[in-house]
Amino acid sequence: MTANESSNQIQLPDNFVFGVATAAYQIEGAASEDGRTASIWDTFSHTPGKVLNGDTGDVACDHYHRVSSDLDLIQQLNVGAYRFSFSWSRLFPTAGGQVNQAGLDFYDRLIDGCLERNLQPFATLYHWDLPQYLYDNGGWESKETALAFANYAKFIADHFGDRLHTVVTFNEPWCSSILSYLFGVHAPGLKDLPKTLSVIHGQHIAHGLAIQAMRASKSDLPLGIVLNAQAVYPIGAQTNGAAVRHHDFHNGLFFEPLFHGRYPEQAVKALAPLLPKTFMDDLPTIAQPLDFWGLNYYTPTWVTDAASADELYPATAEVQRDDVTRTDIGWEVKADCLTELLKRLYADYSLPPCYITENGAAYNHELVEGGVDDLPRQEYLEQHIKAVAAAISEGIDVKGYFAWSLMDNFEWAEGYSQRFGLVHVDYSTQQRTVKRSGHWYADLCQSHRGLSPLSP
Ligand code: FCB
Repeated sequence: MTANESSNQIQLPDNFVFGVATAAYQIEGAASEDGRTASIWDTFSHTPGKVLNGDTGDVACDHYHRVSSDLDLIQQLNVGAYRFSFSWSRLFPTAGGQVNQAGLDFYDRLIDGCLERNLQPFATLYHWDLPQYLYDNGGWESKETALAFANYAKFIADHFGDRLHTVVTFNEPWCSSILSYLFGVHAPGLKDLPKTLSVIHGQHIAHGLAIQAMRASKSDLPLGIVLNAQAVYPIGAQTNGAAVRHHDFHNGLFFEPLFHGRYPEQAVKALAPLLPKTFMDDLPTIAQPLDFWGLNYYTPTWVTDAASADELYPATAEVQRDDVTRTDIGWEVKADCLTELLKRLYADYSLPPCYITENGAAYNHELVEGGVDDLPRQEYLEQHIKAVAAAISEGIDVKGYFAWSLMDNFEWAEGYSQRFGLVHVDYSTQQRTVKRSGHWYADLCQSHRGLSPLSP
């Protein structure tokens, strides 16, 4: 079956948007050029032992210097939208709130370049790269950071708002709180539950204030947030309770305050003494009406009760099944869980329309005779896009799908060891090569959008 024949079988609404996604620290490089200052990810990646092989985002895909040819590449994939993030410390390198003209010029080139190529710009304000000066001043635990975030958001809406298609405040706040402050895997690499809870709450307040600030600046700019909801399953019938607690903690601490203006009851009961003192008072600020939300989905989560009864809430442990297919990063491939997750979330919460803002797979196929034959990634994408189509056919309002990622890039704590791109990057030459999956995706987008084929 050719790529076109297989992609033609996917039925999606005519106005469904296909895109590709990236994030600033993962692709831009130019880490200390043109006035940019360090973020917590610069500090973390330069700390020995934190990132595999000591890799850093200093150069990454050198996108800062290659933005124009990278946008051409995106256009060649026939997508209608590009999801990127702003580097906060490139735009506001110091505590004084003075904007960095070179940073502004870069994002002007990026956004205008999208519009010239008929790509809808989907912007993210925070994809984990907190300016180091804000971290040093108390980070997300401090209200001052939330206020600085709201000012930054207002600036983005004032300056870029009439050219952006959508803006989200946070990308996966679960990662920038639980993975970073409780599991110690991401910057700043701490393992501290009370701090984690204040960071979750601080990020929620920042989100709410930023939404208010952007609405006041540009009321018709569609606003949202991106969440990596976990598709939680019990490993056996006797661990149902663990699955409920896991969902409550890992999803509920985000969905409930953001969409319902409350924290999950069981979690509050169990964690009460550790929660920030003002957490009830801030809920009205946090629960701002949103125009849409983004779901990032990669893999399901299987859980059981924690080994020790003394563990703190949610007292669960993740289980790695051995009877499943995995990508090179070790994540289980299971597309039907995406359909189930969407249905479950819409049943549990009052949610606005959704975009799948990230989905994709790590496979480390290399260049062979000028091409990259990554059939497993193509199959992964096809299965998951079909899972989205299935959810839509059951009434879930999904408006678009973004493949993670445009190109291979700096995969956080895994450094450059895991390749998620539709486009291969040779990091020694910065040569880009569209992989088999990229050609397949371009065919899918072309037939969906009714475009005439690009000349080779
Ligand atoms: C998501 C992140 C994204 C990328 C993918 C693989 O959690 O948002 O930056 O690293 O995982």
